Amino acid sequence: MSFLNGATVGYDTENNKAVFIDQTLLPLHYCEKSTDDFDEMYDAVKCLKVRGAPAIGVFAGICIAVLINKAETDDGGILLSELENLCADFVTCRPTAVNLKWALEKMLEEGKSSPRDSIKQRLKTLALKMIDDDISVCRKIGEYGAELLKDKDAVLTHCNAGRLAAVKYGTALAPVYISKEQGHSIKVFADETRPLLQGARLTAFELMQEGIDVSLICDNTAASVMAKGKIDAVLVGCDRVARNGDAANKIGTLSVAILAKHYGIPFYVCMPFSTFDFTSSDGSKIVIEEREPCEVTDFWYKERMAPKNVNVLNFAFDVTPSSLITAFITEKGVIMPSELKKYIKKSTEDIF
Ligand code: MRU
Repeated sequence: MSFLNGATVGYDTENNKAVFIDQTLLPLHYCEKSTDDFDEMYDAVKCLKVRGAPAIGVFAGICIAVLINKAETDDGGILLSELENLCADFVTCRPTAVNLKWALEKMLEEGKSSPRDSIKQRLKTLALKMIDDDISVCRKIGEYGAELLKDKDAVLTHCNAGRLAAVKYGTALAPVYISKEQGHSIKVFADETRPLLQGARLTAFELMQEGIDVSLICDNTAASVMAKGKIDAVLVGCDRVARNGDAANKIGTLSVAILAKHYGIPFYVCMPFSTFDFTSSDGSKIVIEEREPCEVTDFWYKERMAPKNVNVLNFAFDVTPSSLITAFITEKGVIMPSELKKYIKKSTEDIF
């Protein structure tokens, strides 16, 4: 029986467990796992069992609530110091997606501002709210994005920024899902996304499940489909956007953005507003995660294909300069890179 019921991550409050789909087993096996163990949670994010910036953030919030509620003590001081330690440990898991840091900071702030005798309950409530908020935020992204598409348009996407990368709907694929609800049919070209094949394994899988017309292409086919005039728009997700609008996303996104510019195709970055990191002045300040060489040298099912001891560079993300981005599609609306300054000012006023 499914606990998640169409969601990607969830909070089983009855048994105090964090629940997730193990995405490393997809598309061959659908397997929901639940845990209240920190090492298993950390491993789930590190090994991409739970992946995609919004999903990582919400999952981290759920995990913190589970771990604090599992503590045998009700002493507020001890819980707070435990909370601080857990957040400091968890944040090291994946460095590029700002949503992880964002969610952990929210949990920490909530813990610190709670009356000492209600820390457990308040963290549980906040984690459940993060789940609901993510669903409504992604739906809004979908609604704003769908306004930019018309019936029979074809979009190209890179990596997986669909429902598996958030709680439901996703970011880059949300406009496709909402367009479908509105009776429009949108065709999707999904880059396979080497080395970990999120496009082949996850994007193709979830779109087919939803009955959406998807063609899987090798990453190096993107230029050809654009050159043949098959693509009306590019929709990608995002892990962090710097103050100047430079956006980090899955490695290979930059190449797609350059191609889109060359062929005059609009390039949209879809993400929750919380993905803006106003503390990073530009893309060069964004830490890019580097992962194990074996992800590049071995096939997904662990069969060696490259020479032993070959040197490997395995950046998990790259940064697309804001000059290549047509607009950001967020829950607050469609924002042009040139309009970002206005939002930075607003959010600074909010903070101080
Ligand atoms: O390494 P992953 O699979 O976590 O990378 C995911 C992406 O790059 C997504 O495009 C991004 O997190 C946005 S998800 C809505």
